[in-house]
Parts: sequence; structure tokens; C-alpha cells
Amino acid sequence: METDRLLYDGHGRRVGDLRVSVTDRCNFRCQYCMPADGLPWLEREELLSFEEIARLVRVFVGLGIEDVRLTGGEPLVRRQFPRLVGMLAEDDRIRDLSLTTNGYLLERQAGALVEAGIHRVNVSIDSLQRDRFFQLTRRDALPQVLRGLEAIAAHPRIRPIKVNAVAMRDFTEDEVERFCEFARSTDFQVRFIEFMPLDADRAWTPDAVLAGEELRGMIEAIHPLEELPREPSATARVFRFADGRGEIGFVNPVSEPFCADCNRLRLTAEGKLRTCLFSLHETDLRQPLRDGAGDAELESIIRDAVWRKELKHRVNEPGFRQPPRTMSAIGG
Ligand code: 5AD
Ligand code: SF4
Repeated sequence: METDRLLYDGHGRRVGDLRVSVTDRCNFRCQYCMPADGLPWLEREELLSFEEIARLVRVFVGLGIEDVRLTGGEPLVRRQFPRLVGMLAEDDRIRDLSLTTNGYLLERQAGALVEAGIHRVNVSIDSLQRDRFFQLTRRDALPQVLRGLEAIAAHPRIRPIKVNAVAMRDFTEDEVERFCEFARSTDFQVRFIEFMPLDADRAWTPDAVLAGEELRGMIEAIHPLEELPREPSATARVFRFADGRGEIGFVNPVSEPFCADCNRLRLTAEGKLRTCLFSLHETDLRQPLRDGAGDAELESIIRDAVWRKELKHRVNEPGFRQPPRTMSAIGG
């Protein structure tokens, strides 16, 4: 690609990664994301159609986006979701086409997703104990999720498979050893993600964050770890168990912000472009799209928005304001 087409923000960062939320709905109600009763869902006509998503993704890819991750809500609850995967997978300029899912519907859909051309899958699992999984997600679904994980793992092409656990104080401490054993006895890469203030219940406090370094210390007391080299835009610090059995990672957005190397954009299910998880401002792409804007016009709207990408999040600063959207309405 000609380098003058590439997307840069006003802080000199090259943006190459787009997260696309395909629905705001979810079949779980994770404590750190959704309220127990759910949220008012978007109406059908508010959602971008698959054709609209594919069109926008093509425009982004024309600007040098190479990594596309499909998220939600829970992406697999969107009807005919594998059809969208198939539409996007046709574009071989996309280097990495991945999916983040809670795994509940994965057992049924794994085959169709692989056939449609998904490259990689991340599954969110916060506890390996059934009752505690229920407590956190408000769904008694651990066995179903583990079956989903097995179903996708049965396809050797889909690697690496990452298992993401949100780390919360007074909860995750009692999961660490089980997750280590899990990482050591499978080829899944387990990653702990620090709890961020994107929860509907606004229960987040700095104290509720279980920092990655603290978790790593707990693990290191039992299993020596060796850090692996990391790409600049990678969010995770990944370690290998020193005896060679498995990997474990830490995504530390709160205690060790990686904003300086952030190369990500997010497109919400109703077509708003967000340049940061914590953006208080977003740019509507749906209206121009539906008004018949050409590629050049969409590109210029995107360039302007990306130019104003936030320098960093201010979670640790006084006066931080939590965005009105929850994680489920943004796309993780
Ligand atoms: N903090 C950190 N991670 C979160 N996720 C959802 N809400 C939060 C939060 N408040 C994670 C999910 C999933 C991904 C989409 O985002 O567990 O792994
Ligand atoms: Fe659903 Fe994911 Fe939010 Fe849990 S974290 S409620 S699985 S969108």
C-alpha cells in the first residue's frame, strides 16, 4: 500500500487495528459489563447491516487497517453471523480476522466460522469453577463454554486460541492456580485483563483492580516465568512457564497503560467510530453511509476522527469521567 494512504493520528501513531461490534446484545450479564436486567437494546434498523459493515471495513482496509476483530455484545447472537465472517474473509488484505466471544454459542457455530474463514478466536472465561462462573456472568454456563472452546480448538488452523479472564480483586485470586494448570495442560494462552471502568453498575473503583503485576507475583511464587518479546502495539505482556509448559499473559490497561503504542479504533454496532475505549466523543459513520457518501468522503471523515484520537486514557487521573457506554455497547 502507498504509505500516504495510511491512517495516522495527531500524536504520530499509525492506526492499523479495527474492532467491530456487530451487536450490543448479549446472552450473559457479566458483573463488570452489564446490569442484571440487561440494557435497552438497539432497534434492528439502527444496527449496521452486514453489507454496511463490509463496506466500512473495506474503506478502513483501504486506509491500511490490517487487523479486524469482531466483537459485541456477544457477536454470535447476531443472526447469520458466519455470513459476515465470510464476506470479510474474502478480502485478503486483512492479515488477521479474529473474533472475541463468550463461547456460549461456539459449540454450535465453530464449524461454520472456520468454514467462513475466521483466522483466530478469543474466548472470555473468568472462572474455571462453575458456581463462581455463574456468580460473575449471572449464567450457569461454564460447561457449555468449555464445550465451545473444545469445538473451536478441534480446528488446528485456528491458533493461537486465547482465553481472556477479567481480573477483579477478591475474585480472581482464587482462580489463578486453576488458570495456571489450565494454561499448562492445554495450548490455550490464558490472559488476565485488568478490570476497567466500563461497567454498567458503576461499581468500579481503583481498589477493585487486581493489578497484573500482583497476579504475576502470585504465579511466580509457584511457577517461574520467562517474559517473551512483545510487539510494540501488543497489549499483553506474555510469559512462558520456565519449564516450557504453556504461556500466560497480562493485559494491564489500568496499572501500565499502553496508550502510547495504541493502534486501535472501534466501530460500534450502530456505526459510531470510537478512537478510544474511554472516548467521550464519537463520530457517526452510519448517517453519511446511508446518505450515499462515496469512499473518498467516508475516508475523509475517518481521517479527521482518527487525527483527534485521544493521547491516552485518564483512568488514573482526578476528574476521570467514565464514558456513558458500557463495554457491551462499545466492543471489547
Ligand atoms: N474491564 C475489563 N474487561 C472487560 N471486558 C468487558 N468488560 C470489561 C471491563 N469492565 C472484557 C470481556 C471480554 C472483552 C470483550 O472485554 O471479558 O473478554
Ligand atoms: Fe456479554 Fe461480554 Fe459483557 Fe459478559 S463481558 S456481558 S459476555 S458483552
